[in-house]
Amino acid sequence: MAKSVLVTGGAGFIGSHVAERFLAEGWNVTILDDLSIGREENIPDAARFVRGCITSSDAATLVKEGHFDVMCHLAAQIDVRRSVNDPVFDATRNILGTLNLMEAVRTSGHATRVVFSSTGGALYGNFDPPPSTETFPKDPEAPYGIAKLSVEHYLAYYGRVHGLDTVVLRYGNVYGPRQDPHGEAGVVAIFCNRLLDGRALTVFGNGEQTRDYVYAGDVARANFLAATSELPPRGRLDARAFNIGTSIETSVNTLAETLRRIAGATVSIDYAPARAGELARSALETGKARSVLGWTPQVALDEGLAHTFHFFADRWAQFAAGGNA
Ligand SMILES: NC(=O)c1ccc[n+]([C@@H]2O[C@H](COP(=O)([O-])OP(=O)(O)OC[C@H]3O[C@@H](n4cnc5c(N)ncnc54)[C@H](O)[C@@H]3O)[C@@H](O)[C@H]2O)c1
Repeated sequence: MAKSVLVTGGAGFIGSHVAERFLAEGWNVTILDDLSIGREENIPDAARFVRGCITSSDAATLVKEGHFDVMCHLAAQIDVRRSVNDPVFDATRNILGTLNLMEAVRTSGHATRVVFSSTGGALYGNFDPPPSTETFPKDPEAPYGIAKLSVEHYLAYYGRVHGLDTVVLRYGNVYGPRQDPHGEAGVVAIFCNRLLDGRALTVFGNGEQTRDYVYAGDVARANFLAATSELPPRGRLDARAFNIGTSIETSVNTLAETLRRIAGATVSIDYAPARAGELARSALETGKARSVLGWTPQVALDEGLAHTFHFFADRWAQFAAGGNA
């Protein structure tokens, strides 16, 4: 019988790629999403869709009675600035919503593996030069990262105390088709849309700050491998955590120039004052994902940016032709 996965947040950017990946592998896919950010057109036709909020009792019932082999949990409030302005809202969705689902897994009596989407970019402290390994000291700057780290602690607890099968993926800055230009790593989507609109690209600070950009298709494959691989024993916080990135630092200047070249555009790159609290450098060491999950990124930045730009360009063309962009 085909295996089954629940993808929370599957109408969103990364979740829709995850859902597609499992469908391609022959799994039955159920998507739970409240469509607060996600879009119905992101949901693959072959997936079953349940509209609902992860904090609800209906969501808990779905998890409890669904007997899923795997739950890839991606549904979250992902806007770092919103987490700063409204940490209660952030914690309600990102901590309590997750606990609601985890308690349902715990009491279901079914061995559901939980693959949690955490962050590498907003978790590690600014102590040592990158790339960060999984055991680097954690010191999240914003409530968004604090909530992700809290959930990671809960998942380690559920593993140790209740024997639940949990695994954590800490992503770099994920980019790719269908990304909404907000949230943790929306800069690629923002730049693509500005280029298509013929507007200047705005870079905050001197543009030499670096991030680890990883393609959504590679992240989806990491979810599949985390769902199906043999994992290390459950233990403390980092035992079953894996960085998912490229280990390559790319500056915002390089990103802007590469996208401008791909777009064949001549718009200017404008500089605005640096944003407070922004990390100067970030990249993730991914040897553990390679050795345990057999995962390595396969899409190089130039190639992934070209796919992404052309996705947005097609959407603009449809919109210009009177379609729904
Ligand atoms: N984009 C990145 O670079 C990045 C980096 C690190 C971690 N992550 C994590 O990956 C996951 C997916 O992020 P994304 O970039 O695809 O964001 P996204 O906003 O596109 O996807 C999140 C989805 O969750 C849904 N959702 C939000 N709150 C919900 C709720 N209470 N109940 C049900 N559904 C809800 C939204 O409608 C959306 O479809 C998140 O957990 C995010 O924190 C993303």
